[in-house]
Amino acid sequence: MKKRTIFLTTALPYANGKFHMGHMLEYIQADIWVRNQRMEGNTVHFVGADDAHGAPIMVSAQKLGITPQEFIKPIAEGRKEYLDGFHIKFDHWHSTNSEENVKLSQEIYFKLKEAGLIYTKVVEQFYDPVKNMFLADRFIKGTCPRCHAEDQYGDSCEKCGAVYSPTELINPFSALSGAKPEIRSSEHYFFKLSDPRCVEFLREWTKGIAPDGTPHIQPQIQAKTEEWLGKDGELSDWDISRDGPYFGIPIPDAPGKFFYVWLDAPIGYLASLLSYCQKRGINFEGLLLSSETEQIHFIGKDIAYFHTLFWPAMLHFAGKPFKTPNHVWCHGFLTVDGAKMSKSRGTGLDPLAYLKIGMDPEWLRYYLGYKFNAKVEDIDFSAKDFIQKVNTDLVGKYVNIASRSAGFILKRFGGKVDAQSIQNCSLIKKLKEISEEIRNFYDTREFNRALRKIMASADKVNEYVDDQKPWVLAKEEGKEAELQKVCSITLEAFRLLTLYLKPVLPVTAAKAEEFLGCGNLDWSTVDNSLNEATVIKPYQHLMSRATEDQLKQLFEMSNPANKAAQSSEAAKKQEGQSDTSSSQATHVDKNIETKSTIGENVETEELVYEPLQPNINIDDFNKIDLRIAKIVDCKKVKKSNKLLQLTVDAGEGRTRNIFSGIAAYYNPEDLIGKLTVIVANLEPRKMMGEFSEGMLLSASDGGGHTTGLYLLEPNQGAIPGMRIH
Ligand code: 2FM
Ligand code: ZN
Repeated sequence: MKKRTIFLTTALPYANGKFHMGHMLEYIQADIWVRNQRMEGNTVHFVGADDAHGAPIMVSAQKLGITPQEFIKPIAEGRKEYLDGFHIKFDHWHSTNSEENVKLSQEIYFKLKEAGLIYTKVVEQFYDPVKNMFLADRFIKGTCPRCHAEDQYGDSCEKCGAVYSPTELINPFSALSGAKPEIRSSEHYFFKLSDPRCVEFLREWTKGIAPDGTPHIQPQIQAKTEEWLGKDGELSDWDISRDGPYFGIPIPDAPGKFFYVWLDAPIGYLASLLSYCQKRGINFEGLLLSSETEQIHFIGKDIAYFHTLFWPAMLHFAGKPFKTPNHVWCHGFLTVDGAKMSKSRGTGLDPLAYLKIGMDPEWLRYYLGYKFNAKVEDIDFSAKDFIQKVNTDLVGKYVNIASRSAGFILKRFGGKVDAQSIQNCSLIKKLKEISEEIRNFYDTREFNRALRKIMASADKVNEYVDDQKPWVLAKEEGKEAELQKVCSITLEAFRLLTLYLKPVLPVTAAKAEEFLGCGNLDWSTVDNSLNEATVIKPYQHLMSRATEDQLKQLFEMSNPANKAAQSSEAAKKQEGQSDTSSSQATHVDKNIETKSTIGENVETEELVYEPLQPNINIDDFNKIDLRIAKIVDCKKVKKSNKLLQLTVDAGEGRTRNIFSGIAAYYNPEDLIGKLTVIVANLEPRKMMGEFSEGMLLSASDGGGHTTGLYLLEPNQGAIPGMRIH
């Protein structure tokens, strides 16, 4: 097989905060893949960088009274602890705030300009009259113009994925001051994504097949790009400039203007590669120009739009030496017990806390690996499941195999194995036969299938040991040869399982290689069985069991505020005090600082108290006819991510049809049979071609739906048709 050369990246994390578990999910996925490629003898240049520019970082630095450079420095320095801690081996870590990135961003900009794809236009932009600055998209929030989800950022909607300009937001407000922003004019630079050349190119590229014979992007993402491209190629042009003051790369021929962070961020992939090539004496241009080089990006599903439309188009029209990606591979988010992570619910997960407790990083690599597939699915972390998987599979099935036989070989046979019996053993032959399948699973990112297969084989090996009972043979006279045979076969099986698990468990594999004396295991060594020359060294402890206490501690350390909140809540209850709410400004700032887009879905912690409405009198209230209704049916609505269609019985001897924007919060099947409250005298409204006859009542906070949305349910005893007084 021809050896591959791969330039691989993971999404560049914003340099405005520490890594969270979502980052580790992406890095672990990429690292497992990279390690497997290296075991195949392929060359991988695996590079990352901090995404250091943008208004949020500038504002955070300002608040601390330091420069943005001073702000990002300790964050960059802190990366190593996480990466080393989880055995993630980037070849190079760089920053978008680097000379390489300035050079490449400006070069690509000029090339796109030459290609006639850059133009300027005066745009109306939001200006914060309190802070005296144009507001970056991230600092404007409001309601999504497409799906009407509240509390969305100014550039894209996290609910429906729409990308828009901030001025399209409904009810915008400044996230910095809370002020209603003013509209002011300013000249902006645009990348003409709507150009027929771009549209035509993207139609092909998004459906294209890479030289390895597999699609550039996953089918689920392709369905999205088709939707975004629309029937008539309705792509919006991309605003790529920002006015100063801004922390970013200056647009060379436009004084006072800077590249928007999302332009220089992906170019940061190339900047990191360039800096790495310079360090290693590799020809950067030659590497990119080679038709053999594969360019692959691992990213979270939330940034697919940028990576499957803007990025390939930029690269294509910038021309040589740049090349379009061979693949953009998306993964889902990390959830905890099936829900978004939430510190207030105590379900945040801090990678450093994990390491501090002394939990084995390979447990997490295995646990996530066991859940990874090539689809764009969310990955769930459950403490119970974690303990069970780690202890049953890694300790019970895998590590145990070695500890059961190594001692006998060492003490009774001077560390020598019975090479002949290994060669003739059908169990070993079968174990070797699955190697191709496992390699393929790793290569296609079906890690779950690889690990399932490996564990099924480990079961077979354990059955063999249980049948042969070496501990009994050891006590019987004249059974030496048999004992040596059984233990040799077991150790060879362990060698193969170690090889198969090595992309996931690199450190355990290194320890096992050491005690087996088998040298470096890679895919070319499947057939190098333990043999006459092998000398088994004393078995060393490979892995401990995970405990409930550790997991408890992990959640406690990851959510200190939660612990504090719980105790203060308890204290308040004792004192008979009621809850207080945080201010919107605090909430918003916090949300921005902690907002991250890679693989973790962290819910906002604090309730944003919505200001009270003006008083009404009882007659006003009586005009609203609220009724108890039973949900007799509920289903999803085609063509809407937001709506559920409900059939409710409000005690009228007929049912009503109601559309409700709760699809993001409830599974239809979970609602059927429940009692709830409806506004029964709301003027019927035509939606999705049908009349919606009433409205469901639900609770959410004043910050949109970031703390969730909750349908009202009456106490037991209420009957459909009862009025709420
Ligand atoms: O979403 C994010 O966290 C961005 N910092 C990702 C950038 S990826 C690439 F374009 F650099
Ligand atoms: Zn939306």
